[in-house]
Amino acid sequence: MFQAITLIVLFGILPSTYAGACPDLPSMRSDFIKSTFDPTKLAGFFTEQAYSDIAQVGSSCQTLNVTSAPSGLLSMDFSVKYGPLPFTITEVYTPEVVDPPSPGLFEKNADVPGGKFLKLPTVLVDVAEDYSAMTIYSCLEVGGQAVRELVIATREEEADEDYVRELIDQAIEAGVDIDADKIKRSSC
Ligand SMILES: *[C@@H]1O[C@H](CO)[C@@H](O)[C@H](O)[C@H]1NC(C)=O
Repeated sequence: MFQAITLIVLFGILPSTYAGACPDLPSMRSDFIKSTFDPTKLAGFFTEQAYSDIAQVGSSCQTLNVTSAPSGLLSMDFSVKYGPLPFTITEVYTPEVVDPPSPGLFEKNADVPGGKFLKLPTVLVDVAEDYSAMTIYSCLEVGGQAVRELVIATREEEADEDYVRELIDQAIEAGVDIDADKIKRSSC
């Protein structure tokens, strides 16, 4: 675990840490995710609008370039700027194999050297029916604490403020256990 934490810090992706247990991820999914979600339709470019992720402190211009494989695997090139410095990591979302199939559940890891040590249980909480917005939540219990990450992203570069607020409210309603004031707006 020490090694994994070291890697997380090294690659600047230490997620938010609060005490407590993770919520039940499968039950957080919207009806759309559970019934009709097609991961291949998520492919394309997104701009992050809101997040909770301690690693993103001091960063700006967060974007996600999603590619999908027929297997349901999603790969996201997550780009940020720390000041003038651009930084990109590839995050891989491997679908959880469960019987019966249960869409929207993933194990997320960052495709960086040693990234295989970091595996975050992740749920696609919701996706807009036209695949123009997505809400992703990850939670991992580590030694009595839980590390949590939330990403809300839209295809539109500049999303309407009220719409983003609505997506945040829906995420909390779905069971995202992060205080609203700890969910930050992304900007560029
Ligand atoms: C997104 O990824 C695809 C596939 O790797 C690539 O062809 C495309 O140029 C990328 N788009 C941007 C805006 O980086």
